[in-house]
Amino acid sequence: MTVKTPISRLWPAPDPAPLSDPDLTALYGRAGGPHLRVNFVSSLDGAVTLDGYSAGLSGEPDKRVFGLLRMLCDGLLVAAGTLRHEGYRAVRLSADRRAWRREHGLAEYPALVVVSGSLDLDPAQAAFADAPVRPVVLTHAGAQPPPGLTDVAELVRCGTDRVDLAAGLVELRRRGLAELLCEGGPQLFGALTAADLVDELCLTVAPLLAGPGPGRITAGATSPPRQLGLRHVLAAADGVLMLRYARSVER
Ligand SMILES: NC(=O)c1ccc[n+]([C@@H]2O[C@H](COP(=O)([O-])OP(=O)(O)OC[C@H]3O[C@@H](n4cnc5c(N)ncnc54)[C@H](OP(=O)(O)O)[C@@H]3O)[C@@H](O)[C@H]2O)c1
Repeated sequence: MTVKTPISRLWPAPDPAPLSDPDLTALYGRAGGPHLRVNFVSSLDGAVTLDGYSAGLSGEPDKRVFGLLRMLCDGLLVAAGTLRHEGYRAVRLSADRRAWRREHGLAEYPALVVVSGSLDLDPAQAAFADAPVRPVVLTHAGAQPPPGLTDVAELVRCGTDRVDLAAGLVELRRRGLAELLCEGGPQLFGALTAADLVDELCLTVAPLLAGPGPGRITAGATSPPRQLGLRHVLAAADGVLMLRYARSVER
């Protein structure tokens, strides 16, 4: 990707020098063990979408970090709602990023992991049909797959009548998907927060007021607040902030 908008570090140790991709890779890094990182973009006034999609909130700096976070993970977790609504395509990485993964002992591509209770999924959707690595669908024992889904994805059933996310993450880690990146959406993030499974939140703040209407980055039943510690604040020259928060103590 051509870098048009410099990104620099505001905190800690402010430095106006533009960060290179290797600098950003080092700043976000890999946890070195089981870890769930969540990545979202929001407007200044907390909207999760603009005109119904995240694209209106995301610019070139956000896309750059979004791609680097994909490079850094073993598995890419996404809720079925976001997969359907955003029309997820197959996970692709540039040759450089695939080479980085090989050099670091990772599979060439992260595995896509879709969370769905209903299994209302289209096997012809490119996220499944063109996937470079067979995707996993995290579901529960009672869900019936539509014709063709098991041809293009592996079903992993956790829970009897609802997806047990904690058990699902254990199962993913047993399969070698230790470091997970969750790209949403809000209902999945809410459920992961409620189950206290979120180790890190990477939040891009887009410099605009979306106004009333859209939801937040989290949704679902209420749950206790969870404290996270600030790890870094980056700023792009177009006014975008990139915040990284993580648990104080990894578990
Ligand atoms: N700004 C951002 O960074 C960002 C990121 C992602 C998404 N979004 C936006 O968020 C919106 C989509 O939100 P959404 O309300 O559809 O929420 P969502 O969390 O994307 O998807 C909800 C669906 O995912 C599955 N799911 C989620 N949590 C589950 C759980 N704990 N157990 C079982 N299944 C679970 C269910 O699928 P089944 O119906 O198949 O059971 C559920 O209906 C879109 O407008 C998208 O653009 C924004």
